[in-house]
Order: sequence, then structure tokens, then C-alpha cells
Amino acid sequence: MLLPSPWRADFPAIAAMQRQDQTYLDNAATTQKPQALLDALQHYYANGAANVHRAQHLPGAHATQAFENTRQKVTQWLNASDCGQIVFTHGATSALNLLAYGLEHQFSQGDEIVISALEHHANLLPWQQLAQRKGLSLVVLPLDTDGVIDLEAAARLITPRTRLLAVSQLSNVLGVWQPLPALLALAKAQNALTVVDGAQGIVHGRHDVNALGCDFYVFSSHKLYGPDGVGVLFGRHGALARLQHWQFGGEMVQEADYQSATFRPAPLGFEAGTPPIAGVIGLGATLSYLSTLDQAAVAAHEGALHTLLIDGLKQRQGLRLLGSPQLALVSFVVEGVHNADLAHLLTEQGIAVRAGHHCAMPLLKSFGLAGAIRVSLALYNDSQDIERFFDALDQALELLR
Ligand SMILES: Cc1ncc(COP(=O)(O)O)c(C=O)c1O
Repeated sequence: MLLPSPWRADFPAIAAMQRQDQTYLDNAATTQKPQALLDALQHYYANGAANVHRAQHLPGAHATQAFENTRQKVTQWLNASDCGQIVFTHGATSALNLLAYGLEHQFSQGDEIVISALEHHANLLPWQQLAQRKGLSLVVLPLDTDGVIDLEAAARLITPRTRLLAVSQLSNVLGVWQPLPALLALAKAQNALTVVDGAQGIVHGRHDVNALGCDFYVFSSHKLYGPDGVGVLFGRHGALARLQHWQFGGEMVQEADYQSATFRPAPLGFEAGTPPIAGVIGLGATLSYLSTLDQAAVAAHEGALHTLLIDGLKQRQGLRLLGSPQLALVSFVVEGVHNADLAHLLTEQGIAVRAGHHCAMPLLKSFGLAGAIRVSLALYNDSQDIERFFDALDQALELLR
């Protein structure tokens, strides 16, 4: 079956990679960028870079306006209530670290933080380290065999001691949506704060943080076809007000003396120093581009490619898929074959997939594995990419077995 991508030509890097015989299937790690983003960066740098929120001059006003336009676009993209809920960070990881430091004063010894067994290190280690600093317990919600957080266990483990729940929307290893409404309801019933790691989820469909009802939602621009070095922290106003300032410097200050200072509220109070200006402007251009796409058509295309991928993998002998992937990606291992050897042979044939623990070491260990191969899709992939992957996989397995 031929599944061409109508959006492939919008991403010049895909054609460039094809000229180098490279097939890019590592989109859960980072994505290629649309021409609209390249044009926005070229325009910004070619017409005069300036710092934001501080200069009186015209270039400064232009940069500030373009920067704040992106805040408006992110607000709309997430269906947040207003721009004051959108803090720019350097990525999902820095947003989660901001939360773990900014909320530190909210915890007392013996309090519990609840995460799940599938968390990326970015949504595990900041909480683990916070728990160590403050003498808290880190409670880990188990998964069922499909890779979905077990709601019965969650109902037992989320208790009056739970002060915060932090979970992923879509696993970067298993490709499984998590039952967020039910989990968030359990946490809210205990008056716990809720954090959603949307690093993978944001890429697939539109997400409404108001409807979701979480306190905080984080994502990285670079996984959503935007520039790297930029992330977003959405926070409900009441939740943002509970954050302590954690990085100090220019632009986040209200009044400063040698011995003391007062600080701005969110969002600027949490954007100390010069932010990634070009990156934020580029994210705005990317969101404008994505807004022109038919989201249902994108979902249908990605869904059809995913089915092709899963069916092909299931037809091959000795492959074990991790969990029951629903979309976007699949991780697998091959009996008797080391994932690094397989990845090496795929790389030699121009197939860019990821091998290893995918920054979720505890999850891989729970499967009794040190690593797995992950194939991850984006809207510009097509069925030929998948055919090339399978040709390379078959050749590699013939050599390795
Ligand atoms: C589920 C999930 N959370 C968090 C992150 C961290 O994102 P970043 O490295 O862009 O900060 C990733 C990156 O792979 C991820 O997949």
C-alpha cells in the first residue's frame, strides 16, 4: 500500500536526507523543521536581532512583539485561558526542573510524590532528587501488560499523603496514551498538584489544558517541529502562584537592592536572563504552519503508517514488541540479537532509528532489558520510509542470526 505524505515537501531536510540515502525514523527524539520555521529564523536574524522586554528602540520593540505573539499562539494551541499561564523555558526538562525546585517549599518530610513506571528520566529524576533533598517518598504507579498505568493500583497508591502527581501523557518508549482524566481526578480528590509531561503527547493532535484540568503541562518545541532550546510550562494561575522563584537575574526582577529584591510573577518572573528569542519566534512560525494543516488528515496518515509498521513487525519471527503501541512509535527487541548490533547494521544502511534505554532505564529494566530499538514516525514520513526500514531490518537480521 502506498501512503505518500502530502506535507513532506514542506520539510526541506527530508529531501536533503534522502539525497544522502538517509531515512529518518527517530522523530520521538527530535523532528525535522518546516520551511516556515527556517524563513522565520532567516527573517529575524537578517532584519535585526534585539533583546526582548528591555529596549526602547524599534528592533527591540519588533523582537518583543514577535516573541509575545508566540506566547499568544501557544496559549491558543493549548486552549489556555491567557498568556500569563505560558512560561517559556529551555525545554521540557528545564520546565520539570523548574517545577521541582519551584515547588520544593510546598513539601514536608513524609509527603509523597507519585509518578509512573514509564516516566522519561526528565519526569523521574527531578522528583527523585527533590524527594532525596526533602525526605519525601517517591511512589511509582505500575503498568498493565499493554503499558497503561494501572488505575486500580493508582486508586490505592494516591492517598491523602500524595502532594503531587507527575505523569506522561504519551510514553516515549511504549507509544501508549495514558488515562489522564482518571489519574488527575484521583490526585485532585486528594488536593494534590498535578503535572503532565506532554513532551510526546503534544505532537499528536491538539490538547486542551483547560479540559484536561491539570495544574501544569510541559513540552519541548523541538519535538513539535519547532526549534530546539525552547520549551513551554503551562500553569494554572493558582498553581503558578505557588511556585517559588528559582533562577535569578535580568528581567525577572521587580525591584532590586544590594541586600534584597522582589520578583515579578509568572510568566516573566520565571524567565530569568535573555530567553531563546529566535527559538521562541521560530516556535510561533511552526505553530502557524501547523495550524494550517488538517489535523484529522495528519492523524489518519500517521495512524495508517503506524499500522503498517506494527503489522510488518508482527509478521517477522522472534520480535518482541514492548507494550501495545497505539500510535507514533514502537519499541522492540529481537530474540538472540543485541539491540546495539541491530542498530549498527540499520545505521550502515541509512536507517535512522534509536537504540538503547530511551532515557527510561527503570522501565527497560522492568522488561528485563538494557535496551530496545525504537522506530518513531512523523507527519512527513511515508510508506516508502517504512519499506526501506523493513528491507534494512531483514538484511540485518539475516546477517545477525
Ligand atoms: C516523554 C518525554 N518527556 C520528557 C522529555 C525531555 O524532553 P527534552 O529533552 O526536550 O527536555 C522527552 C524527550 O525525549 C520525552 O520523550
